[in-house]
Amino acid sequence: MKKILVLGSSNTDMTVKTPVMPVPGETVLGGDFTMSPGGKGANQAVAARRLGGDVSFICKLGRDVFGENALKHYRAEGLGTDGVLRSDLPSGVALITVDNAAENCIVVASGANLDITPADIAASSDALRACDILLMQLEIPVPAVLQAARIAHEAGATVVLNPAPYAALPEEIFSYIDLFIPNETELSAFSGLPVGDVPSAVRAAEVLFAKGVGKMIVTMGSKGSLLLDGGAPRTVSAFRVDAVDTTGAGDTYCGALCVALAEGRTLDEAARFASAASALSVTRMGAQTAMPTRQEAESFLGK
Ligand code: RIB
Repeated sequence: MKKILVLGSSNTDMTVKTPVMPVPGETVLGGDFTMSPGGKGANQAVAARRLGGDVSFICKLGRDVFGENALKHYRAEGLGTDGVLRSDLPSGVALITVDNAAENCIVVASGANLDITPADIAASSDALRACDILLMQLEIPVPAVLQAARIAHEAGATVVLNPAPYAALPEEIFSYIDLFIPNETELSAFSGLPVGDVPSAVRAAEVLFAKGVGKMIVTMGSKGSLLLDGGAPRTVSAFRVDAVDTTGAGDTYCGALCVALAEGRTLDEAARFASAASALSVTRMGAQTAMPTRQEAESFLGK
């Protein structure tokens, strides 16, 4: 099996259920509070591992109880953790509200996640050269993402970037990206064009292809995902489920997609597997707490 390396953020998610989202200046009385592991990088690493991938994770944790708990958790999940770094800054924390429509609002206190330095990436270069698939997001400093993409690309790895949350990227990075997985809002921001349907997404994607991106999957929530790989554009439908919390659904999708690609499946097959895993993840509360096992994903797909 090909080796997946995830480089990204690690947070502790503090989640409150709320009947309605507060507007600025408003206090609302919410429901249950939960504390659980999160962070887009960690979520993608755990999703990929739980679905059967050979996964290592590079992140930066504080020297605090959140960091200790996170490291224990990653080991228990079976992630390779030799590349986990430590910072004097506090570990990342995300404050999340989830409403009755399963939508969320998230504010991240990045802490140690933003302390990943060029020296850290240089020290991780053996791992970056040894992986087959490098999966990253944008909750860590952009220079670190660029440097890692360059090293992995030059070593022949497949570089996958989920550009969430949106951050401006240097032009150089696009030619290192084999697979770009934005949502519609991110694609619109990167291309400078409005995106609201398949034709507009195809037009916006052309801007990114002209910059050097290899292939693209545009995630469109309940509308499914749009696959753009040089052949005819095609949509993979989202599975209909009763959603209770969409936190981490996109992360589950990216992690699952990389597992399927690591197993040699086509982009279409991988997208269907990722859609199933992501659908399962929204039926339960939390990010990693909601992520399915391989067995759950396969029985959902009727295998
Ligand atoms: O994508 C969901 C994640 O975003 C949460 O787990 C939270 O930590 C933020 O990083």
